[in-house]
Amino acid sequence: MKLALFTLALFSPAVEAILPPTLPSWEPTYDMSLSTLTMQCNGSGWSDPTRGAEFGVVSYDWSNAKSQWAMSQPMDCEERLIQQASMTKAANPNTHSWVYRNVVKALPWFTSVREILDDPAYSGFFLKFDPDVDAAVPRCAPENQTKCSIFYHDQMQTPAVPTPDNPNPDGSCPETGCNSGLNPTGEYLFDHRNSSLLPWLLEKHILSETAIGHPDVDGMFMDDYWCSNLVCSSVPTTPGCPCSDPVQGATEVDANQQKDMGLSDEDIRDLYYAWDANMQAIQQAIVDNGAYTWSLMAGQGNANAMPDLLTKNNCATKLRAACSSTSEWQTESKLFGLTVEDNEPSQLEEDVAFFLLARGDYAWLGWGTWGMTWPFNPSPAHGELPPLPNGVPRPEMIDRDFGKPVDTDGFCQEDQDGVFTREWTSGTVELDCNNFVGSVPTVAGGMRG
Ligand SMILES: *[C@@H]1O[C@H](CO)[C@@H](O)[C@H](O)[C@H]1NC(C)=O
Ligand SMILES: *[C@@H]1O[C@H](CO)[C@@H](O)[C@H](O)[C@H]1NC(C)=O
Ligand SMILES: *[C@@H]1O[C@H](CO)[C@@H](O)[C@H](O)[C@H]1NC(C)=O
Repeated sequence: MKLALFTLALFSPAVEAILPPTLPSWEPTYDMSLSTLTMQCNGSGWSDPTRGAEFGVVSYDWSNAKSQWAMSQPMDCEERLIQQASMTKAANPNTHSWVYRNVVKALPWFTSVREILDDPAYSGFFLKFDPDVDAAVPRCAPENQTKCSIFYHDQMQTPAVPTPDNPNPDGSCPETGCNSGLNPTGEYLFDHRNSSLLPWLLEKHILSETAIGHPDVDGMFMDDYWCSNLVCSSVPTTPGCPCSDPVQGATEVDANQQKDMGLSDEDIRDLYYAWDANMQAIQQAIVDNGAYTWSLMAGQGNANAMPDLLTKNNCATKLRAACSSTSEWQTESKLFGLTVEDNEPSQLEEDVAFFLLARGDYAWLGWGTWGMTWPFNPSPAHGELPPLPNGVPRPEMIDRDFGKPVDTDGFCQEDQDGVFTREWTSGTVELDCNNFVGSVPTVAGGMRG
């Protein structure tokens, strides 16, 4: 446990898990069209690349094209994410295409993970079942009782062969069985205490040709985190505390994981610190290689994906905080959301005005729900309107060419109590927080595409 002691000494009593918010190394843009972001997933096929190419950042989820990759022999989620990123780049080279990664769970539908899970030389990279415990999750594939693994895995978000009891699994494999290599298809877990794991993750999973080493990939959403009750009780402000997703250990994994792996509370603490140290190294390597990851934005640590939303009640407080050169709104990268009701932006001009008033160099606006997935799929008919075959279109306002903030004024100003303005090259942006009325310059579209 040398590594864990070392990280303990270095990072305890750490309040920040993972790296503090860090800016991307790429040039900032004030182009409104390119200052937008979405996380996309079409489980039944490719995500429409022309729609993805409307955004400044589009991050493709692991479940994208799952109907196809779950049937592949073997599964090829990793390659399909790259293909989706390339299709998007071909449609708009200015769009930043991101792919999904998980370094908590070892997901064997990613080729790079499958290859080492199948190779006994790498067995030290994975957590194992306690051989003396009657585990709550099966060690063998549901469809093949002789295809078993010593490595701990659950089947929570896992493709499976459809059965009468489970006709709609999270991805359908062929009748002949799921093929993610020699081990059953499931969610395995990396053992971050093994010091050889980090170099492998960096070289083969993060900076590789199927990740940010690919010319069409500019970043990644990194899912899940470790949580330890011992860490939470000694430093309650640690992000993720108290552990509740659903229990201490790896997040979004079966609730009996600790017992099934025979891990002590101290083991979980060591795994937490080892993961935390590796995540910092990974995040730093991503930025050093010209790419970016979601968790480096302010407020987005630990696989969060929720933008800041404006309300009438928080309007003045947020803007008073934002209107200074030293505020985190200016110095860090931030996610803003359009408030939505019934699948439509419900306070568009106020939200866009807020974005233009509060934003710094690195800021993105998107669909204001957790995950920020802009609806690309047909939306249901409402009122007199016919259904929209390509989902909810981008409102014209988020593709206007507002220019840039005017340097002499710098940041937003509170002109009268509760009324905020900021000068842009295209005109004045105003948000009256008392009456909750925004106004932005009326100008033509920007330079997207
Ligand atoms: C999702 O994939 C299906 C199957 O390829 C396709 O018909 C549909 O148009 C796609 N939807 C979007 C929004 O891209
Ligand atoms: C780490 O994993 C590698 C690969 O399986 C293994 O060779 C090595 O012995 C492991 N190290 C420790 C300390 O368990
Ligand atoms: C079941 O799994 C075993 C071990 O992996 C394999 O040899 C066998 O071919 C599998 N059976 C079927 C029907 O796929």
